[in-house]
Amino acid sequence: MSLSETLKFPNGIEVNQPTGLFINNEFVPSKEGAKFDVFNPSTGKKLLEVYEAREADIDAAVDAAEAAFHGVWSKFSAGERGACLLKLADLMEKNLMELASIETANNGKAIALAKGDVAMSIQTLRYYAGWSDKIHGKVIETDNNATFNYTRQEPIGVCGQIIPWNFPLLMWAWKIAPAICTGNTVVLKTAENTPLSAYYACTLIAEAGFPAGVINVVTGYGKTAGAAIASHMRIHKVAFTGSTLVGRAIMKAAAASNLKKVTLELGGKSPNIIFDDADIDKAVEWVNFGIFFNGGEVCCAGSRVYVQEGIYDKVVEAFKKRAIMNKVGDPFDENTFQGAQVSKQQFERIMGYVEAGKKAGATVEVGGNRVGTEGWFVEPTIFSNVSEDMQIVREEIFGPVCTIAKFKDVDDVVAKANNTSYGLAAGVHTSNLKTALEVAHRIRAGSLWVNQYNALNHALPFGGYNESGIGRELGKEALRNYTQIKTVSVNLQ
Ligand code: NAI
Ligand code: MG
Repeated sequence: MSLSETLKFPNGIEVNQPTGLFINNEFVPSKEGAKFDVFNPSTGKKLLEVYEAREADIDAAVDAAEAAFHGVWSKFSAGERGACLLKLADLMEKNLMELASIETANNGKAIALAKGDVAMSIQTLRYYAGWSDKIHGKVIETDNNATFNYTRQEPIGVCGQIIPWNFPLLMWAWKIAPAICTGNTVVLKTAENTPLSAYYACTLIAEAGFPAGVINVVTGYGKTAGAAIASHMRIHKVAFTGSTLVGRAIMKAAAASNLKKVTLELGGKSPNIIFDDADIDKAVEWVNFGIFFNGGEVCCAGSRVYVQEGIYDKVVEAFKKRAIMNKVGDPFDENTFQGAQVSKQQFERIMGYVEAGKKAGATVEVGGNRVGTEGWFVEPTIFSNVSEDMQIVREEIFGPVCTIAKFKDVDDVVAKANNTSYGLAAGVHTSNLKTALEVAHRIRAGSLWVNQYNALNHALPFGGYNESGIGRELGKEALRNYTQIKTVSVNLQ
């Protein structure tokens, strides 16, 4: 029974890729032995087969995580937990090209971006390693001083984590780092189409010093393996990143099972706003990066561009020129900016939205077509002449497609920006500090970027208002997701 395969990439990197489920620090076949295919979206060809986790495999992973939580992991000091995360970060740094190449082959993203993802994953591990021995409760004095009261920030237990395919390794790091530094153990399910980078990172876990059972990683379908995590009676917290539709299902499953704590990071339809007084060249650069970074497969993508009337025509022209300069194609080419979309299914979903936009009467300023005939590449696409009620303005496309529209003044653009069920992020470009801060404070979204976009950092909380989610990841905020407060009150009388 083979549990790994050799993969060779066009840049000369060769890896021994695990294909089993990672439970108890070992790669194992699934109990029922079922497997499914994993593809390279830039060629459309199969890379290899991996084992498919089902309910019994989730149970096995929970058994491992539960035993570790109550046993060996509970004996690790906070500093020792941090040391494991630091060692893992160092090992990942040594394997940066392997991890980035796997990511590019499996997700389709440009290698330059994949290297950035690995670097950010490493930073996230180091950041939370630093938090591990700085988590503590408070002494709370009540008025009669007859009691001594304090709080403890305790870990929750076995945490279930379900991640998507757009940043496979980075989402793995965002999820495991805060859970592990706070003393929990995890059962993480990768997206079924992009399991490879997380599995490769798991080859480093034992060497980093993590005892068996602390970090368990499986792949499988959402309706089976994902649902088993969301409804598991011995998982006490679930963290999810993905579609709003599935986020709702996870909350329902949590409610119907053991009321496990839920955090959700869902989609968005984020506005990116340019005022008359902005530096146009810089603003266009950020708007281009805002939507076309990672092929638009970004939850906080700036997919609705709003431009103040006085500079609208000028910005449309400059943005078109800029968009066609993005190098789209072979993701293993170091100069490529936009690689392939993740799958045939996602490609078809994006092209469906492009058709819907055309049918609704919007104008394609640039793009709108597939690139090449092999793999799933889409031209950077800009729609103008859009109205607020069009599907392409309302729904998350999750591809390199944006709309551009005019606005009059602050009130007008704030109303348009907030005219969405989402609220993940927004950008505002202006040279006037007062305008920037007024707009930043009036938009109902979790991250507001002024004169920049997609400015994520491991130290800054990230998450959504409204239907973009519940809770915050990154920064000190994320520690709350993985701890619960115990109050101890001692009678001194
Ligand atoms: P999805 O939400 O179905 O998949 C994300 C993860 O959830 C995967 O690991 C999947 O296996 C799991 N999952 C699916 N159904 C589940 C269930 N019933 N119970 C538990 N887990 C389940 O996303 P999908 O279908 O791949 O993409 C659809 C759209 O979702 C995209 O076009 C995009 O708009 C949005 N999306 C948003 C992401 C974000 O970063 N916020 C990431 C991925 C997708
Ligand atoms: Mg789905």
